[in-house]
Amino acid sequence: MTNAMKVAVLPGDGIGREVVPQVLKVLRALERTGLGFDFTHGLIGGAAVEAGEAPLPRRTLDLARSSGAILFGAVGDYANDKLPRSQRAGSGLLQLRKELTLFANFRPAILFPELIGASSLKPEIVQGMDLVILRELNGDLYFGEPRGVTGEQGARVGVNTMRYSEPEIERIAHAGFRMARKRRHKLCAVDKANVLETMALWREVVARIGLEYPDVELSHLYVDACAMSLLRDPRQFDVIVTGNVFGDILSDEAAMLTGSIGMLPSASLGEGTLGLYEPVHGSAPDIAGQDKANPLATILSTAMMLHNSFGLDDAADRVKRAVRRVLADGLRTGDIHEAETRLVGTEAMGDAVAAAVH
Ligand code: IPM
Ligand code: MG
Repeated sequence: MTNAMKVAVLPGDGIGREVVPQVLKVLRALERTGLGFDFTHGLIGGAAVEAGEAPLPRRTLDLARSSGAILFGAVGDYANDKLPRSQRAGSGLLQLRKELTLFANFRPAILFPELIGASSLKPEIVQGMDLVILRELNGDLYFGEPRGVTGEQGARVGVNTMRYSEPEIERIAHAGFRMARKRRHKLCAVDKANVLETMALWREVVARIGLEYPDVELSHLYVDACAMSLLRDPRQFDVIVTGNVFGDILSDEAAMLTGSIGMLPSASLGEGTLGLYEPVHGSAPDIAGQDKANPLATILSTAMMLHNSFGLDDAADRVKRAVRRVLADGLRTGDIHEAETRLVGTEAMGDAVAAAVH
């Protein structure tokens, strides 16, 4: 084995436990090209809670910190929805993102030509769509204080705080401009500056940082208008930079335009090369354990890992080409299945992509 690269493998819950093993097959197949990976599994989310631990056990956090990259499945199951918030599966993921200062979450929405019929939009509107949603991941309503529910039953008040500091906006804005420079030089900053002070600050700071990137065309949109434009004309977008909450929502919307949320990968990065790679979809308890989940979002996340954390662009291309080949061969999981294509399960899809890696 040469150049072993340390990968923390955190399958989590639900279909996370089915899709992550498919990725390992693909990475093992890549080892034929001379690479070597060193996988260490860890518990997170409901899987950790079931084992009597916190949603993000200390051991898992240490493992993540000492790895070159983190491969993540999904967290969340119905079982722990009634527990206090800090013990719920989802909080494990939120803590991991925060503890490792992974503030920049890239969610590319690319339409594979083979899947044009699976998109919820007409082909002439969606054809050629190629955009990235850059979601800030460490601030906003997700982490702002104060938060909580107080008061007497019947008169309780729930509070969450939308909070962004200038340095937090600056660093995500820089990440957005840098990404736009690698692409079509267009950045759209999405906010709700007409109503929310935090978002007016967001707009002002992004515009100021924009002066340092005169070669990038900066535009601003309110989040409601952006949600509409994504459906009306998604091709107008190159990079969209937005806050944690709006990014959560808009990235699910963009995912559907690609045919299925089962196709959307993501990379969460900080200032260094350590990254967390996860599909945008969740744990989907309704289809878990049935060999129905689409592993392609996780496999495509791995391509992002090879590129961003390990600088292995050739290996990343091999993985993406293998996915294209399998789609061109007509293999489809249930979420993207159409007439004239071949319905396969999670395992068979993983096997096919692994076999197509050259
Ligand atoms: C996502 C998910 C998470 C989020 C949940 C599982 C906490 O929806 O990654 O988009 O809201 O960030
Ligand atoms: Mg989400």
